[in-house]
Order: sequence, then C-alpha cells, then structure tokens
Amino acid sequence: MVEERRHKSLWTVSAPARRYPALQGDLEVDVVVVGGGIAGLTTAYLLKQEGKRVAVVEMHRLLTGQTGQTTAHLTELLDTPYSTLASDFGEKGARLAAESTRASIEKIAELVERLRISCGFQRVPGFRYAETEREAKELEREASAARNAGLMCSLTNEVPLPYPVKLALRVEDQAQFHPREYLLALAEGIQGEGSYIFEDTQVMELYEGVPCRVQTARGLLTCRDVVEATTTPLNRVFLHTKLFPYRTYSVAGQLEAPLEPGLYYDSQEPYHYIRTHRVEGVDWLIVGGEDHKVGTEEDTERHYEALEAYTRRRFRVTRIDHRWSGQVIEPADGLAYIGRNSNARHVWVATGFSGTGMTFGTLSGMILTDLILGRQNPYAALYDATRVKPRAGAKDFIQENAEVAFHFVADRLAKPEGHDLSDVPPGEGRILEVDGKKVAVFREEGEGGAVHAVSPVCTHVGCYVHWNKAERSWDCPCHGARYSPTGEVLNGPAVKGLPSKKIR
Ligand code: FES
Repeated sequence: MVEERRHKSLWTVSAPARRYPALQGDLEVDVVVVGGGIAGLTTAYLLKQEGKRVAVVEMHRLLTGQTGQTTAHLTELLDTPYSTLASDFGEKGARLAAESTRASIEKIAELVERLRISCGFQRVPGFRYAETEREAKELEREASAARNAGLMCSLTNEVPLPYPVKLALRVEDQAQFHPREYLLALAEGIQGEGSYIFEDTQVMELYEGVPCRVQTARGLLTCRDVVEATTTPLNRVFLHTKLFPYRTYSVAGQLEAPLEPGLYYDSQEPYHYIRTHRVEGVDWLIVGGEDHKVGTEEDTERHYEALEAYTRRRFRVTRIDHRWSGQVIEPADGLAYIGRNSNARHVWVATGFSGTGMTFGTLSGMILTDLILGRQNPYAALYDATRVKPRAGAKDFIQENAEVAFHFVADRLAKPEGHDLSDVPPGEGRILEVDGKKVAVFREEGEGGAVHAVSPVCTHVGCYVHWNKAERSWDCPCHGARYSPTGEVLNGPAVKGLPSKKIR
C-alpha cells in the first residue's frame, strides 16, 4: 500500500473520483472534447454553460493524465521570462500574456465561488528567488519586464523560506488549489442534459468535415466542432515540430515545521517549484523539478533521489510519502498554442502549456469557448496555434528538431542492450536484438517473471522507444508518446499501441 501511494500524486490519493461510463455505440453532440484534463473539462464546462451539448472523451480515467500529475501552481510567473516575451511578442504581447493568465486565475476563483467548490483555493504570493549574484542580476532585469507587463510585483530580500536567499521577485495575488477536487466538481456540472463524459474510450481517428466525425474504439461521435485537449494533439505532424516534451518530477513530504503558504521558484536550470497544501490536517510540502527530455535518460529513478535530497537539504520533512512524474510540453516560441488547428475550420487544439498547465489549461477553455461560439476573444491572436515565429526560440526549434531527426536514425543503428532474455532483469525493460531484429522486452518482477515483447518502433512517426525505469514505461524521445510495459498507449500523440512480438 505504501509503495502504491509512493507512485501516485498527492491529488490522486486524496480525492477519489466517481466512475463515468464508456461510450456505447454512436452519438451526436455539438462539440466533442478529447481529453479529460483541465483544458478539456474547463472547455466542456464553459461550452455547456452556453447551451452546447458536449461529450468529453477520455482514454483512461478523468484526471489521470498530466492534470493528475501537476503541482497546481496558479501563477502569472510563466516559464518564459517577460523580458523574452517582450522581445519576441512585443510589449503588447507580454502585457496580454500577463493579463490573460491573470484572467485565468480569476476565472478559477469565480467558478470556485459560484459552484462553492471545496478545493482549498487560496490566494498566495509568488516568489522567484535568486541564490547567487548572477541570478540576482537576471532577476532585476526580469522584475522591470514583469512590471512593464503589468504584474503586481516588487523586489525583496524577505522570503519566508528556511534558507538564505539573495533576492526575490515577489508577485502578489497568485493562487493554489487542489486540482482534482476543483475539476471533479466541474465534471459533475458537465454530465447530464444532453452532455456526457466517457471514460475508457480511446479516440482512434478524427475526420474534419461538416459534420466532424470522431471514431473511437467504442463508437462514432458526430459533431460540429472537435477540441483536442490531450497534452499533445493526436497525430498532428506539423504542430509537433513546435512542441518539445519533457518529464518533470515531484515529491510530497509531511512538514515538521510550518512554511508560509506561497509559490516558490528557484533560479536553477532546470528550476525547482515549491508549494504547500493541507490535506486532512496534514501540511504537505510539494517540491518539483529535475526536468529532462522524454526518453533520453537511462536512470530516471535518480531524478526522484535528487529531488528528495534537495528537499531534505532545505526543509524539515518527516517522511516523503508521495512521488510522481508528469509530462511538460514546451512550445517552440515560449507561449501556449490555443486555437484552430492548421488547415482546419472545426478542429481546435490546446497544447504547449510548459510548466503552467493549470493556468493555460483554464485559459484554453476560455479562449476556445469564445472561438467555437464565434465570439471575439482578446487573447486569441496571441495564442494562435497556427503561428510561426521564425525568430522566437529559433535556436531551440532547430536543436530540438535536429534531435528528433538524430533519434530517428541513431536509435535504429544503436547497439542493442542484449541478445538474450536473460539480459532483461526482473521489473525492467531492454531493447534486445533477437534473430537480427530489435524488440522491446519487459520482464515482470519476481522469480520466473513473465516476459512481454513488443515492437520498439513508436506508432506515431517511427522513432525507437526507450525504457523509463522510474515510470516503468516505454517512452519515445521524438514527440513524447509513452506506452505501458506491454505496449498500450499511455500518452499521445500516438493512438496505436506497440504491436506485440513473438520471440523464442
Ligand atoms: Fe512521434 Fe514517437 S511520438 S515518433
């Protein structure tokens, strides 16, 4: 039981969900929303409030994707610095980015109040802090850009953390909440009166047209509009060149001494993100970080160890009871892509939320609701999903896509990790070469553990998958698809599992 809890997020363990049925046969609605995370549920809820009949289709259970793995910071402090946003999107763009994320926090506050959702929603200050002279200089530059963008912020040396900090950018009126408690309440408001939530229903194909058709494994959905709210949109090859998938890690431990509620970010690369949350009278410290590109690390377990060591060095925690990992999608030019998909009239996407999934997920619901209803939205142009900004993030764009091309070729030519089933330790996966062909082999734990062999070729565009030891999954380094040890899809953009292989 303890082991089971250790691999689940604090949110998943502390807020069990009701079950929603799977789709049974064909159905017609106004809008199909693919993905039962924050972007999908918020969009569906807001559209239903406007009189639309919606169907949310989730491959697994609601909130078991990235929204279940978040640390749920509601903040205007985006991963892309405001100084970078001002130079890439103009001063007006940076102001709109700040204004839109503020609007998203206020939308959550409004829904919490209107629906009386008990989810520990709390206004707290946010701190991005520096621990070295160099970091402090950068923070000073960022403070002036953030102020120009309209953030209510100031520089301070007073940070309520139990270790020394040189300087911090303090931003007022940020917020935190329990994401599952909030979103499970929104889900309750979606179901019924011609609107539906379907779990365990995987989308296989999507046909744009009048009407659009969404083929699932359990029936055909017909609708006017489709929203792809699946972290990475399904099988959109062009859009994927602008999206870079990273894994990020979180741990939660019980605090021995109280810590003032706030959102805290250090200035390391990659940075750590810290907050607290009280669940049933226990004060939890939640620390995240250790990001790395999906499918590129052999020993993913060490990231949990490093995060636990970081936490114990800086805070007094009795036990670290929870650890979990999620996927972060970095956008090429630093801002989320929310809007109409390229060459589509009725297919909408929401992706590239970087480390601020709660804020951008909610904003997606607000923007997409307006666009589907044919209304103007003040932020739609800034987040236009079809935009190409050759200068913004050009270096990352070239490097990340070169890495995809590299993996596509090099992983095929790479030496196998063994030739025999005995080369696969219990509970692990390895790429073996058997009879001249590569296979991805997983061995179950325990003596004589059963062996499962699947194709190592990702069904999205054909890169080779890599074993992820900590999450026990096959991960694709190219666009972040993830598969279970036996080949079922865990994360898109792939929609088909890895075919099983027979080996002697
Ligand atoms: Fe695109 Fe695997 S996710 S090739």
